[in-house]
Amino acid sequence: MLRRVGIRDGTEVEVRPIAPSDADALRAAFERLSFESRYARFLSPMDHMSNAMVRYFTDVDHHDHEALVASDPETERLVAVARYVREDHDPEAAEAAITVADDWHGRGLGTAMLHELAQRAREEGVTRFTAYVLAGNEDMIDILFRLGPAKVVDRANGAVQIEAELPPAGVSDQLRNLLRVAAEMTKRFRPD
Ligand SMILES: CC(C)(COP(=O)(O)OP(=O)(O)OC[C@H]1O[C@@H](n2cnc3c(N)ncnc32)[C@H](O)[C@@H]1OP(=O)(O)O)[C@@H](O)C(=O)NCCC(=O)NCCS
Repeated sequence: MLRRVGIRDGTEVEVRPIAPSDADALRAAFERLSFESRYARFLSPMDHMSNAMVRYFTDVDHHDHEALVASDPETERLVAVARYVREDHDPEAAEAAITVADDWHGRGLGTAMLHELAQRAREEGVTRFTAYVLAGNEDMIDILFRLGPAKVVDRANGAVQIEAELPPAGVSDQLRNLLRVAAEMTKRFRPD
């Protein structure tokens, strides 16, 4: 189940499905995450993970809920999590979210995890991802609306929910563009 995956900057990470035994490592990775990355991921200024959340995030059924973790072979720290949770009302759709440790941003890890997650999701019959992306301002909201079916879910925070079809293999331009917008917004985000 554990695979070495090469990313764009030439380094390698180890990717595998999450397990309940990752609880402490996940909490530690969350503690290291910047305010901006936490906000972009959870759309709120989350300052800690409760035990119930850690359990929910690590004890998954690997079918309706899958999470893949990447660890740095040198430090053995968790450096990324890519997760999907199948929608209740539509078994072919799943909400997807990717989080990369701040000191790994911009090195290709998010893209690599998107590929891994899309592959796992297809294996479990998911054909469509939904994602919540922090849009921040009207220009970004417009960009997201041009990327695919979208709706504003929280105008105060500029959060947009967007839908993207999974291609039969790999990832589409639409998904890559979504990840780029999320990466840009993580860097630009300044809470009022
Ligand atoms: C979004 C996130 C996962 C991206 O991870 P990453 O490892 O930095 O992503 P990559 O290095 O693979 O880059 C993805 C794309 O964004 C671009 N990008 C990366 N950082 C960027 C920045 N600061 N400004 C503009 N573009 C950027 C890359 O060039 C790449 O685009 P390309 O495919 O056209 O080359 C990361 O920023 C993150 O964890 N953010 C907080 C949580 C979040 O917002 N998750 C997504 C919503 S659930």
